[in-house]
Amino acid sequence: MSYLAHLRVWHGDADGGELRDHVVEAAEGEVVLDLVHRLQATECPDLAVRWNCKAGKCGSCSAEINGKPKLMCMTRMSTFATDEVITVTPMRTFPVIKDLVCDVSFNYVKAREVPAFEPPADLEPGEYRMQQVDVQRSQEFRKCIECFLCQDVCHVIRDHEDNKEAFSGPRFLMRVAELEMHPLDARGETRADRPDEAREEHGLGLCNITRCCTDVCPEHIQITDNALIPLKERAADRYYDPLLRLFRR
Ligand code: FES
Repeated sequence: MSYLAHLRVWHGDADGGELRDHVVEAAEGEVVLDLVHRLQATECPDLAVRWNCKAGKCGSCSAEINGKPKLMCMTRMSTFATDEVITVTPMRTFPVIKDLVCDVSFNYVKAREVPAFEPPADLEPGEYRMQQVDVQRSQEFRKCIECFLCQDVCHVIRDHEDNKEAFSGPRFLMRVAELEMHPLDARGETRADRPDEAREEHGLGLCNITRCCTDVCPEHIQITDNALIPLKERAADRYYDPLLRLFRR
């Protein structure tokens, strides 16, 4: 069964833009990205949209649908009433390049600021041994497709542009947590350890665990419970432990 859907799409660039209404044919089983592509193939050939896999795996088609951060390729048209107006806008936290395409380079800057895994200096390749439980713990974090919806929804930077300098966002705090939980990561042995870096370099204290990041994650990673809260606990242990404080002085 096909029907005419009502799409309200943001058109514009860094200098401004507007929402425009479109009537687009929709067929059974389609997702919002199908309609955006149909719009591009018909009345708006210059509509900019980023996508790649159409399978929820590349993380390219992030946008806001009726104000909620979502992947366009994983948002089924059947979740809306046929007479509903579906508003599609670019992610609000990042600067717009054109239409639905944002400049997400903020995330690549933050990614580079997280120091890489450091194995112990005396460990030879082939000698790495890990318990299965440790492997599974980081596997959850490695499901991240870097769609940056968690970064988009995080109110610390969504509503406060000036926090971007000091705050890396849930995606990269999760990366710090992943490395901190790696039993062979030896960074803390030679210099500031990961929880201290999370607090001092990545703005961990600004996160007030509202769980918005977890709610929008298309991979259902428990970012708050399994990464951010444990990282906060480890940072608090280091910082408030009276013996360690004495030692630090
Ligand atoms: Fe790859 Fe949507 S197009 S996640």
